[in-house]
Amino acid sequence: MAYAVKKTQDNKTAVAAAFAGAAPTYDDGAEAQRDIAAELARRIAFLPLPARPRILEIGCGTGFLSRALAGMNASELVLTDFAGAMLERCRKALPAESLARFLVMDGEEPAGGVGENFDLICSSLAFQWFDDLPASLERLAAHLAPGGHLAFATLAADSFVEWRQAHAALGLPSAARSYPTLDELKRMMPQAGAGSITEDRHKRPYADGHDFLNRLRQIGAHLPLNNRPPLTPGALRRVLRRFETGIAVTYHVAYGIWRKT
Ligand SMILES: C[S@@+](CC[C@H](N)C(=O)[O-])C[C@H]1O[C@@H](n2cnc3c(N)ncnc32)[C@H](O)[C@@H]1O
Repeated sequence: MAYAVKKTQDNKTAVAAAFAGAAPTYDDGAEAQRDIAAELARRIAFLPLPARPRILEIGCGTGFLSRALAGMNASELVLTDFAGAMLERCRKALPAESLARFLVMDGEEPAGGVGENFDLICSSLAFQWFDDLPASLERLAAHLAPGGHLAFATLAADSFVEWRQAHAALGLPSAARSYPTLDELKRMMPQAGAGSITEDRHKRPYADGHDFLNRLRQIGAHLPLNNRPPLTPGALRRVLRRFETGIAVTYHVAYGIWRKT
């Protein structure tokens, strides 16, 4: 058991380091992430929030969603990420007059000092990195005011299905993470409230398999599941050979909106 806990912690440290290392190149590789954050911002704009909401963002990265939040006339805006270099980029991307507070924080374990009674807690594409999403959602919900909203985008089950299928066809294990179905996500939502989860599928074209992998590296999202050993060079070549003329990769995105009672 102690070993399992340590492994999880090691994996989390490695994931945070990978994102921190990718901070300088993230914006150039993150086309899908930019579009998904914009869609989440569009959905947030429809929420019945107070005129001057208190907002907390989890896993803000370089600030695609944070920039939209900074325009919401918030009375408090707390932007958090567990990769300090990402947070630094985000700070530079926001208008100088922004009153945002920046905090290095593991979104799975919200720090006491982050604050309470938020009207909105939101996150774009960070939750799929969590080790225990249901418990984390309960902990985050505790930081909402009654009537406050949780709004997020996360990857769902069919994400990267083409990559996984190519491995299966060759009898190779895929180190790609697996993601929850919509029904599983619905069951993960905290008890004291109600909400909805909807889905969207984007197909992103890449020149070939190398291009796809390089793009993941560029944004820091390339680490295999729980540091599973990577494929041997020969096995990886066989996978890449299937995509020499191009690959269209599915991003299966779940958008969640939940309101605390
Ligand atoms: C794919 S990026 C998305 C960044 C940004 N929200 C966007 O839409 O571009 C994932 C971000 O989540 C952060 N992240 C992943 N797991 C986290 C955790 N447990 N706590 C805080 N941040 C986390 C990463 O450091 C990274 O900045």
